Amino acid sequence: MVSPELPHYHNNSSMAKSSLRSKSSFWVSDSCLFLGGAFAALLLVWSFWSFITPSSETTPTFESLGTKSNSVGGSGNLADSLRCAAGAAGPNLQYDPPERTFYDDPELVSYTIDQPVMNWDEKRREWLLHHRSFAAGARDRILIVTGSQPSHCKNPMGDHFLLRFFKNKVDYSRIHGYDIFYNNALLHPKMFAYWAKYPVVRAAMLAHPEAEWIWWVDSDAAFTDMEFKLPLERYKDHNLIVHGWTHLIHEMKSWTGLNAGVFLIRNCQWSFDFMDAWVSMGPQTPDYERWGHILRSTFKDKLFRESDDQTGLAYLITEEKEKWADKIYLEGEYYFEGYWEEIVVTYDNITERYNEMERGVRTLRRRHAEKVSESYGAFREEYLKEAGNGRGSWRRPFITHFTGCQPCSGNHNQMYSDQSCWDGMQKALNFADNQVLRKYGFVHPDLLDSSSVSPIPFDYPF
Ligand SMILES: *[C@@H]1O[C@H](CO)[C@@H](O)[C@H](O)[C@H]1NC(C)=O
Repeated sequence: MVSPELPHYHNNSSMAKSSLRSKSSFWVSDSCLFLGGAFAALLLVWSFWSFITPSSETTPTFESLGTKSNSVGGSGNLADSLRCAAGAAGPNLQYDPPERTFYDDPELVSYTIDQPVMNWDEKRREWLLHHRSFAAGARDRILIVTGSQPSHCKNPMGDHFLLRFFKNKVDYSRIHGYDIFYNNALLHPKMFAYWAKYPVVRAAMLAHPEAEWIWWVDSDAAFTDMEFKLPLERYKDHNLIVHGWTHLIHEMKSWTGLNAGVFLIRNCQWSFDFMDAWVSMGPQTPDYERWGHILRSTFKDKLFRESDDQTGLAYLITEEKEKWADKIYLEGEYYFEGYWEEIVVTYDNITERYNEMERGVRTLRRRHAEKVSESYGAFREEYLKEAGNGRGSWRRPFITHFTGCQPCSGNHNQMYSDQSCWDGMQKALNFADNQVLRKYGFVHPDLLDSSSVSPIPFDYPF
């Protein structure tokens, strides 16, 4: 029943561990949805995109600038092009036209979860029409959202780890040109722990109409492949992407058949409606206790009584399938997020495989500016064809998630020792940092020793 690519925590022998593992995830239930309307709204958005994205911009594109400077060749012309690029390309951060948008109407939008957001696709589209410089590229624009509690960590090392986990996300965002929002405020006083992210994601959707996707990443998750990019094309017909396995949710009815600690959600009306349904199971509602019973009786491997967002998501997928499931993509092909215990043991060998690959391919070991890192990532794909993906693969795992380790509180799952959690986090963070530091000319030779670094010689690895 367990196929090789599945994380081992799905084995019966580790059920106890799995039921404790997901403390750091979050969600809702509910009543308000109309799939037909959502679909029509989506179509509207699509047609809007195709209308606005390719050619309505009068500003020169990157490609046209490139061609121009290449064909003309002279340095004077190149300078002109560069000036032109600096002035015209990219979003205009200094311009908010006086035309009314949803921001100006006190009735139209509430940032708090007690009032539903309506007609969001239309409102967002209107905002974009008034802010044309954001329209180009809007279809793939991503905002990473993460955060942690308002007060200091109980675990003396907790804040240090949170800082490093955040640094890791900032690195990934900078390399790929994504914006990132770190939230430290509890936006709804009753929505604690894993439920706290819902009001944040919701507010981020309203604050960032220019972003198509909000990508929630738990504070205890680290990007461990700085080159990998989300395959957005694969998700074009979906609104919510989570790491999960269909048969574990639908057939096994396992609450660990997915993980709610990392998800990608489209900035559209469907997502507001879905999150309203999701959080209707949360601690801010009078139905919280009732939902705890319902979720436990539906997903028998859930051992704790409280209603939690992860099981809530599984519930909406299986029990309100017609309403939601066709817009939810369960990504099981790569480590959209992955369980740290099975991943951290692989970093050393993966480092060696990558070094071996680079010894054989000059381009891969060529020094370069950090800004052009993405092109080297794309180039490397050619050499990763045999690597596989996810469990058992020697590709760098995309996201390593320290579920159960609780770095801030220190109340980690008793299945693990302190040491295995702390060592695992050090290794993950240094493994990731090595991919970053490389562009700055340094490397941590020992993944367990954060304080020592060595300079990287020219043409390394030999
Ligand atoms: C790492 O590689 C060595 C040598 O090939 C192998 O014996 C070992 O099992 C590998 N370790 C892991 C965790 O895959």
